[in-house]
Amino acid sequence: MGKQPALGVCYYPEHWPEALWAQDAAEMVAAGISYVRIAEFSWIKMEPEPGQYEFGWLDKAIDILGQAGLKVILCTPTATPPKWLLDQMPDMIAIDEEGRPRGYGSRRHYSFSHRGYRAACETITEILAKRYGTNPYVAAWQTDNEYGCHDTALSWCESARDHFRLWLAKRYGTIEALNEAWGTIFWSMSYRHFDEIELPNLTVTEANPSHNMDFRRFATDEIVSFDRAQTDILRRHSPYPISHNFMGDFNQFDARAVASHLDIAAWDSYPIGFLQNLQDKARRDPKLEADCYRVGDPDFQAFHHDLYRAMGRLWIIEQQPGPVNWAAYNPIPAEGAVRLWSWEAIAHDAELVSYFRWRQAPFAQEQMHAGLKYRNNDDAPGMAEAQQLAQDLSGLKLDATTQAPIALIHDYEADWMTELDGQSRDFYYLRLLLDVYRAIRENGGSVDVVGPDADFSGYQLICAPSLMTMSDALMDRLIASGAHILAGPRTGLKTDDFQLPPELTQSSLAEATGFTTQRVDALPAHLPQPLSYEGEEGAFSVWREAGQMSGLGQGQSHDGLPVLVHGNQASYLCGWPDAKTLRHILSDMMQKSGLTPIAMPPYLRVRARGKHLIFTHYGPEPVTIPEAFTGKVILGDRQMAQTDVTILEI
Ligand code: GAL
Repeated sequence: MGKQPALGVCYYPEHWPEALWAQDAAEMVAAGISYVRIAEFSWIKMEPEPGQYEFGWLDKAIDILGQAGLKVILCTPTATPPKWLLDQMPDMIAIDEEGRPRGYGSRRHYSFSHRGYRAACETITEILAKRYGTNPYVAAWQTDNEYGCHDTALSWCESARDHFRLWLAKRYGTIEALNEAWGTIFWSMSYRHFDEIELPNLTVTEANPSHNMDFRRFATDEIVSFDRAQTDILRRHSPYPISHNFMGDFNQFDARAVASHLDIAAWDSYPIGFLQNLQDKARRDPKLEADCYRVGDPDFQAFHHDLYRAMGRLWIIEQQPGPVNWAAYNPIPAEGAVRLWSWEAIAHDAELVSYFRWRQAPFAQEQMHAGLKYRNNDDAPGMAEAQQLAQDLSGLKLDATTQAPIALIHDYEADWMTELDGQSRDFYYLRLLLDVYRAIRENGGSVDVVGPDADFSGYQLICAPSLMTMSDALMDRLIASGAHILAGPRTGLKTDDFQLPPELTQSSLAEATGFTTQRVDALPAHLPQPLSYEGEEGAFSVWREAGQMSGLGQGQSHDGLPVLVHGNQASYLCGWPDAKTLRHILSDMMQKSGLTPIAMPPYLRVRARGKHLIFTHYGPEPVTIPEAFTGKVILGDRQMAQTDVTILEI
C-alpha cells in the first residue's frame, strides 16, 4: 500500500500509422503519463495466418514507447480470437442461455471450457512470454480483457456440460451425495450417474437452485483455470507482475478467486456509463441520478476501488476520459470530472490511473467513445484534466492507505444466492451493499470491502448485509475480532448447499444478535412499509423479516415488526431501510463501535490515506468541509464546488 500513484493510458498502435507512434509516445510523456497498455485485441496482427507470426510491428511499438520513457503493460490477446481460429474449431464458440451460439463479428466469442481454445491461448501466450518476458521496456502483463464482459462468463455449450459433470463428480464423490445436497427427491429429479446431469438452462420452469449455484461455482473455477493457464506460462518466462482488468456492477464470477493468483487487481471505471446502466432499476434514486448525471454516483467507483483493493495492488487500467458510447445515453462529463474520478481512485490507494484511450478511433464499434485526444490529434478536454492531475501529484508525497475502521463483507456466493433465491425481484445484492457503503460515507467513514475469508482483526465495526450463509466458524471469527457486528437483512438464512438451515437462522448468528428470522416479507420497491426509528419516520422496502426476539429492539415498522435488534456484540437489521433511516442507523452503529460519525454535506465524500484526508465533491451545490475535520489544506480549498478535490493533512 501507499505507492506514489502513476498515470497511464491505453494505446492501440495497430490503429495508427507507424509514423505517428514516436510523436504519440513523446506527447504521452509530456502529459505526465508513465504507463501504456497495449495489444489486448491484436491477435490477428500477431498471427495473421495460422502459425505465421509477425512481431516486427510489436517489437517496434514497444521499442518506441520504451525509449520515450514509458513502461509497457503488455496483454495476452485472447479476448479476440481471429476468425481462422474459430473456423478451425467452430465448437469453441459460447452458447447462450437460450441455447443459441454467440456469433462472430465483435469480441469474446469463446467458451472458457473449450480445451482446444485454451491450448491455442497457451501457445500464443508462450510465444509472447518468451519474446517479451524480460524486455526492459515491459513492466507488467494483463491477461485477456474483462473476463465475462458482454455476458460471457457462462456458456451453455457441450464442453461446459462435459467439464461440469467432471467437476460435480470431483466435488461430491458419489451421485448419492449430490442428490442429497441438491434435494433432488423433490420433483423426482434424482440422478443415477453424473453423466445424466445437464446444464441448468432451458428447463420447463426454474431449475433446481442448488444445480444453478454449482454451475456458477463451476464457471468461476473454469475462469480461474483459464487464467491460471496463462499466468503459469508468464511466470515461467517473466518476472513482471500480472494483472487482469475486472469490471463494475459485475457478479458472474468470483473475481476474488481469479485475483488470488494475480499480483494486481485492475478494474475499468466508467462512472457515467455505470450511473446509466446499473442493472438494478428498482431502487434507483432519481434525485441522485439527476444531481450526478455528469459526474456519476459518488459511491459506486469508491465501492469498487475498495472491493478490488482488497484483492491485490489496485490499478484503474481504464478510466473514462470523456463521453463513452455504450450506455443508454452518453452525456459529456462535467468539467473536472476526469480529474475528480482519478483522485477518488488515488484516495483509495490506486497505484495507477490509466485512461481509456489515447485517441478516438474513427472506425468500428467505438467511434463515439472519447479518448484523451480527438481523432484529428487535437487534445480533447480529458487531456488537460489528466495533465492537471499529474501536476497535482508532482508536488505531493501522499501517505499510505491504512486499514479502515469499518469492514463491509462482500461475497460472490451470497450475491448468486440472492439472485437465484428470488422472493422479491427488486432485491439487488450490489444495491444493498452500496446503500450500506453510502450510509457509512455519508457519516464521514472510510470502509474496507472484504471477502468472508478476510482477516477481521483491527476492525471496530463489521457489516454483513445479505450474507446468505453465515457459518459458525465465520461467526466465531467475527466475534473474536472484537468488532461490533451489524448483520442482516437476509443474513444466515441458507446453507452452503443452498438449502434452508435446520434451525430458522444459523444458530450462532441468532445467538449473537438476539434475533431469529421466522418469515420474510418480500415486496416490490414501490410499496414502502412505514417505520419509526428514534423519533424519525422512514420506511423499509423490498425486504422485511418477522421473527423471535431475545435481544433489545430499536425502532418498529408501523405494524410492529422490528427495525434493529441488539445482542451483546452483534445487531440484526430486520429489513432494507430508506437512505435517511439507514444513514441514521449507521451513525448509531458507528457510535456503538467507538467511532465518531460526522454528518457530511450532500454528495461530499472523504477517504483517509493515513494522515491525508482526501475530499471529493460530486454535488451540484457548493459545500464547506465540516469543521470537525481539522488539518492543513495541502490541495484545494475548504469551500468546494462540484468536481473539486481537497486534501487535508492531519
Ligand atoms: C471496456 C473494454 C474496452 C472498451 C471500453 C469502452 O469495457 O475493456 O476494450 O471497450 O470498455 O468503454
